[in-house]
Amino acid sequence: MVKPKLSTSNKNSEQDTNKQIRHTADVVAVIRYKEGEKESPLIYDPFARLFVSPQGEEMLKTALKSWPFFSDYLIVRAKFIDDHLRDFCKKEAVKQIVILGAGNDMRAARLNFLKGRKVFEVDFPDQITNKKQILKKELGTLPENVICVGANLKETSLSNTLSQAGFNREEKSAFILEGLIYYLTPEDVDHLFEELFNISPPGNFFLLDHISQDMSQKSPASEKSTKLPYPEDPIRYLNNKGFKIIESALLGNLTAIHFGKSYKERWWVIAFEK
Ligand SMILES: C[S@@+](CC[C@H](N)C(=O)[O-])C[C@H]1O[C@@H](n2cnc3c(N)ncnc32)[C@H](O)[C@@H]1O
Repeated sequence: MVKPKLSTSNKNSEQDTNKQIRHTADVVAVIRYKEGEKESPLIYDPFARLFVSPQGEEMLKTALKSWPFFSDYLIVRAKFIDDHLRDFCKKEAVKQIVILGAGNDMRAARLNFLKGRKVFEVDFPDQITNKKQILKKELGTLPENVICVGANLKETSLSNTLSQAGFNREEKSAFILEGLIYYLTPEDVDHLFEELFNISPPGNFFLLDHISQDMSQKSPASEKSTKLPYPEDPIRYLNNKGFKIIESALLGNLTAIHFGKSYKERWWVIAFEK
């Protein structure tokens, strides 16, 4: 994707925004850590504690004031993704998993069925470096199946970046886009889904979440963006792009099932394939 050159001041403000966005990964880690402290957690991430920071805790407190359902939503979202990924890996010979906007995701190590499969983790270079440093310090090593890919998805061609990292587009793959696309511009989102379609053989599998435009109006400062989330209707969007929906759910309905609490704010999680 060719991008116009930014002036120095625009570049600095974009770097500040990217730094802020990067820290949203710490909030999600705090949420997973807190879930793991419960007597019967819905998902358990034993590594989440490594990424807990005062800043992440503070951001979560602020987020919960605007979105009291935030932690519940993110936990049922993670469960939906884990369950679908497990089913897909059971049914198909999946060799590669690509996690876009991976943040502090530790599925490569926490989900046993991913051992022996390549997991490409893509995020901003700073985020990747930070995560590697934490893991090396705390665990002495990275999960052996992980391939770290430092890239700004707004500036890179995903196909080139993944190929350079050793991704084989002939192999059946699963892609996870969890907590990502609402940080991208409409142009970036369009470009990303076109690339995902083009690099995928039929049968590739995808997991995505997306927030509604109405709920983004009430979003907490840590999640605030000047733009409305795009696309407005993700199901129609994916169909128009040529993908097939396998299952879509509203997180507010999943919290009713798993936590006995239902919320009306629309936030989708979607499993789909090419
Ligand atoms: C809300 S966090 C979600 C992290 C992780 N997927 C999870 O659910 O725990 C969003 C992640 O997307 C990454 N991200 C956002 N925009 C990105 C971009 N343009 N390029 C690469 N990574 C990006 C952030 O750095 C951050 O790690």
